[in-house]
Parts: sequence; structure tokens; C-alpha cells
Amino acid sequence: MEPEHCRNELNALVCDFVERLCLKASCAALQPPLLAEKLPLGLSVAAPKRTAASLRWLLRGERPANAPCDPSEQEEAGLAVVDLCALLVSETVLVHYTPRPKGITPPPIQQSGEEAIDEKYWKRRYNYFARFDEGIRMDPGAWFEVTPESVARHIADRFQYDTVVDGTCGVGGNAIQFAMTSRSVVAVDTDAQRLADARHNARIYGVADRIRFVHDDFVKFADNYTGAPVDAVFLSPPWGGPGHLDCPHFSLRDVQVPDIMQLFAAAAKLCPRVALYLPRHTDLHEVAILAAQHGFPAVEVEKVFFQHPTPHLKLVVVYFSSDVAQQGIPKSITQKSVGRDRAQRLMQSKASGLAGRDRAATLPEAYAVLALSLTFGRAFCESVRLLELRLLKVRPLQI
Ligand SMILES: C[S@@+](CC[C@H](N)C(=O)[O-])C[C@H]1O[C@@H](n2cnc3c(N)ncnc32)[C@H](O)[C@@H]1O
Repeated sequence: MEPEHCRNELNALVCDFVERLCLKASCAALQPPLLAEKLPLGLSVAAPKRTAASLRWLLRGERPANAPCDPSEQEEAGLAVVDLCALLVSETVLVHYTPRPKGITPPPIQQSGEEAIDEKYWKRRYNYFARFDEGIRMDPGAWFEVTPESVARHIADRFQYDTVVDGTCGVGGNAIQFAMTSRSVVAVDTDAQRLADARHNARIYGVADRIRFVHDDFVKFADNYTGAPVDAVFLSPPWGGPGHLDCPHFSLRDVQVPDIMQLFAAAAKLCPRVALYLPRHTDLHEVAILAAQHGFPAVEVEKVFFQHPTPHLKLVVVYFSSDVAQQGIPKSITQKSVGRDRAQRLMQSKASGLAGRDRAATLPEAYAVLALSLTFGRAFCESVRLLELRLLKVRPLQI
């Protein structure tokens, strides 16, 4: 590539990055991000406020004519609550035991072409794949993108269906576990090498014959899908590498796919049960906007904690489904050991130091109405939405 061309491309990348940061900062200035760490176990209500311009940016990726770099310059006119969404907040604490397989000599630290694997990730290799020593393949990027096996197993335990689609398969961390609990899995990815690695890894776990690997863009795949009815779609889009934690909050627009809103819309069209695997500091106001856009009055936000070295929030999984409104309000923390026994041990525990954080995001009036909606189901939920908005003395924002 010509040096001049490289410079232009780099400039464009830097400008794009700065502009995204500015847009993100201006949204945060309108209303502080709603973070999972602030949400207690149980029911909360998200009431996202946006201007029409910032909503257009979030939903359609349309940048305002003059990117509002100074949040104070953001026009406040038209700021309104977009919609309401009930968040059923559950908490799961995972403990992962990874006994080394007997009789196999661990390989030396893996070198991939020019790039050596960071020792921090190498030490966690059995957390990513307990059967790592049997020849698991991962490219350098996959080391920080793969879903840890304990988390993938846990999600798969909740996904026991006939047909599950993993729309962003990567090297197969989730698809392999889905194949252990569901009858068949369709695993889609735009990266052919990742899919080849996923197929290889699935053979190690003895489930390759239950997974159909499809090399495609998920949006196109969903548009053309003609197979068996899909029971659930899982999406774990790229978060942008280890640097995604540098910002105090994560925007859905930070997701590194051409358009996360299109990806989600494609998933919701394929099946009205979608799980989204997101960073722990995702702004849940945006998740609520996404849910409302697709007609989900309630979502489950599962906070996944790791126990070691000290209990810490690792990530969130958001479940969009009409089942959510019926499933009741989470009351206790689930603790789960993965990897010690083949049959996982489930323990329900009320007494945990993780409960009892502040309820800053709960709006009392809406809380009461939504509690009723959750009791009486989806149809009721839809009919009370206007009432909820009236209680808050706001109207839905049109874009
Ligand atoms: C975070 S990784 C998934 C990791 C996977 N859950 C695992 O455990 O191995 C995200 C994957 O999404 C893929 N991807 C990005 N955009 C995509 C699209 N439009 N359609 C399908 N896959 C896409 C990337 O190639 C990448 O492999």
C-alpha cells in the first residue's frame, strides 16, 4: 500500500474513533449510562432519555451534521424518554474447575506467526477450553474474544432447544456448548479461518456432527434462511479487544460489526428469542431502547460473576424473549460450579455478599405498574405502556 494511502486511511480511522467518542460522551451527558453494577437483583426499570439526533445515531448510525464534541453544546430541545423497559436482573456466580486431562503433555506456549500469545491469556487457556491440550486451535484475536467455557456451558444450559443459531461463532466457544444441550446448531461467521478452527475444536469435543458451519454475514444468512424453525439466536459480537474496558461505559455502537442494530434486527426476525453477550459496562439504557424498538417490554439482564481471585462482575448476557415477561422476578443468586462433575451442581443461595447494591435506577411509580404487567403477561404489558409513560409525564420520542 502507498504511504500516502496508508496515512489517509489512518487519518480516517482516527477521525472516526474521535467522533464516536464525542457522540458517546454527549449521550452520557444527557443521562448517565445505566450500568449493570448499579442494578440490584430483581426488577428495575430503564427509562432512557434521548434527543432525536442521538437516537438516530444509536439506531441508524446517522451522525449529526456537526458532531457535538462539547456535550454542553448538545441541544436539549426534544429530549424525551424513548420508552420504558423492565429489566429483570439476575445474578449468576460461576466457579470454574478445569482439571487437566490425564496422560497428555501440555504444549509449550503457543506462537502464532509473528505474534506470541500474551502470557496472561495463555495462563487462562483451560478456562477458555478445558480440553485445550487436546489440540484446540485459536488465532491471536480469538484469545480475548472466545467465551470462557464455564460461561458458554452456563448459557447452553439455559438454551435447551431443537435448533439454536450462533450468529457470531468465532472459534466455537459457544457453538460447541450449544451442541451439547440442543439438538442442532447453526454456526455462522464471516471469517472462514475461524469457522475452520471452530469445526476442528468441535471435533475434539465430539459434537462436530451436530453443528452446521456457515461462512456468511449473519444479516445475509438470516435474510435467506429457509431451514428448520429457529428456537433461539445467540450473538456475541466483537467488543473491540482488550481496549474496550478503557472507557467507563460501552455503547452498542462500539460493537465491531458493520451495524449492531442490523445484526440484532436480523436475529429478532429469525426468532423472537435472542441472547446478546455484552461487556459488563454496557449502557443498559441503549439495551432498553433496542428492546423497545423490537417490541420487548421486558428483558432479563443476567450479571455473570467470576468467583476468583475475588468475586467480580465479568460480563452481562441480555435475554430478549416474550418468555421473560412470564418468568417472574429473580429473587436469589445462582451459584454454579462448572467442570468439577459432568452433571453440574446447581446451588441456590440467598446469602451472598453480592446482593444489596443501591436501587438508583428504579422508578417507584413505573415499578408498581410493571410489577403488575409482569404478573399479567405480555398483552397487559403492551396495553399499560402508555399508562406507564403518562405516569412519568413523558411521551415516546419519535425519530
Ligand atoms: C467475539 S467473536 C465470537 C466468539 C465466540 N462466541 C467464541 O466463543 O468463540 C465475534 C465473531 O463475530 C464474527 N463476526 C463479525 N461480524 C459478523 C457478521 N456480520 N456476521 C457473522 N459473524 C460476524 C467475527 O468474525 C468473530 O469471529
